[in-house]
Amino acid sequence: MFMTRRNLLKGMASLAVMPMVVHPRFGDASGSPEVLEPMFGRVQLLPDSYPATEVWGYGGKVPGPEIRVAQGSRIHRRLVNSLAEPTSVHWHGIHIDNRMDGVPGLTQEAVSPGSSFEYDFEVPDAGTYWYHSHARSTEQVARGLYGALIVEEPTAPEIDREETLILDDWLLQENGQLSPDFMSRHDRSHAGRNGNFITTNGQSDFILPARQHERFRLRLINAANARIFPLALVGLQGWTMALDGMPLETPEPVVDMFFLAPAQRADLIVDVTAEPGDTAYLARFENKQAHAQISIPVKGVASSTLRPAPRALPSNSQQVPSRLSESVKVRLVMEGGAMGRMRHAILDGERISFRRLAQANQFWAFNGTVGQTEKPLVDVARGETVRLVIENDTVFPHGMHLHGQHFCEIDGNERTGPMRDTLLIFRGETREIAFVADNPGNWLFHCHTLSHQDSGMKTWIRVRS
Ligand code: C2O
Ligand code: CU
Repeated sequence: MFMTRRNLLKGMASLAVMPMVVHPRFGDASGSPEVLEPMFGRVQLLPDSYPATEVWGYGGKVPGPEIRVAQGSRIHRRLVNSLAEPTSVHWHGIHIDNRMDGVPGLTQEAVSPGSSFEYDFEVPDAGTYWYHSHARSTEQVARGLYGALIVEEPTAPEIDREETLILDDWLLQENGQLSPDFMSRHDRSHAGRNGNFITTNGQSDFILPARQHERFRLRLINAANARIFPLALVGLQGWTMALDGMPLETPEPVVDMFFLAPAQRADLIVDVTAEPGDTAYLARFENKQAHAQISIPVKGVASSTLRPAPRALPSNSQQVPSRLSESVKVRLVMEGGAMGRMRHAILDGERISFRRLAQANQFWAFNGTVGQTEKPLVDVARGETVRLVIENDTVFPHGMHLHGQHFCEIDGNERTGPMRDTLLIFRGETREIAFVADNPGNWLFHCHTLSHQDSGMKTWIRVRS
């Protein structure tokens, strides 16, 4: 086994650590849009003794530029495609005008090499979002085509510092380059493309020096193709303030390990409680061992006491579904994958065996059909409430993402949980979500394990205007 994390850590003691530099770019409401250019680039992911890794990034960088705007303003970007293949940008989690959602074949044509497309839309809700390629995303996102999209509240919470932290993993070969097997049968039929090298904002050893009792806002974004990050706070006292951009009514103390599935975000407020001279961590669990996702060496004291618990973030415009009894009810059964029970499914209108599906490199079905159907899973008028029961009849976890609107989970007592745009559903689980279909258009609903999305786990909903 090449490159275990521990080997790398040994070699990294002398690695210089750069402070993170954020370059906020404010949207230009008038005049010509800024350019967002997906292109080839080289980044030093591995320690200096290794070659730089060839990536595709916005502006050739990974992550791409952080886009940061005020709630209610517009984002205007001209996508100029400098890749050798078509691409598009999806603005994940934004309640966006459907024409700007960036899904080739559903909301726009993919943008061919050398061409451009103007994205211009309003951002109605504050929160932590991200943007990423939605064309051949299994490869394009794995190569680095993503960035953070931050929408600021009109009144920000009181903090000392804020950090956007994009977690990702990379499947690297010994020469430091990405494994080119993006269509791997194994990854598609199992847990997706998982990397062997983990980074935060493109750095493997992310260090955030701090003082005791300093208060941070951490905006966590999981940009990985498939990795579910099990995370915990060490030497930090924290609260979950928002999930997938949407504020919790009451900040929730972080006491345990929590999961961040692909595409999910969590906004935390954390106070540094570790003693000066110690190190606090955002820890990641792997094989029952804790690893440093972020190290926070503590030097000095910011104040002698801890602050009171933070107040909730101001609420957004999204409606929590309230008319649950008058809703349209839909069921979604997820089947397939390795070690699953699926024997047949419909592919391109024909019912075929699992063996033949595997030959076509397709492995998953929603309600018995592989991939996007001509008819939407849900077809409703604007304003209707939809209840969706999702059964995971596979042996893998899936993070299901709905475009265009957030949803709530509903528990057995008809209580609604936090609003989310991506829900992690473990093997064998049945979960129910509800949403007010208030954003007209055609919206994708898919597993954000990108290899799964590409091998069957994809459907869509229609909201008629
Ligand atoms: Cu973040 Cu359809 O994607
Ligand atoms: Cu999946």
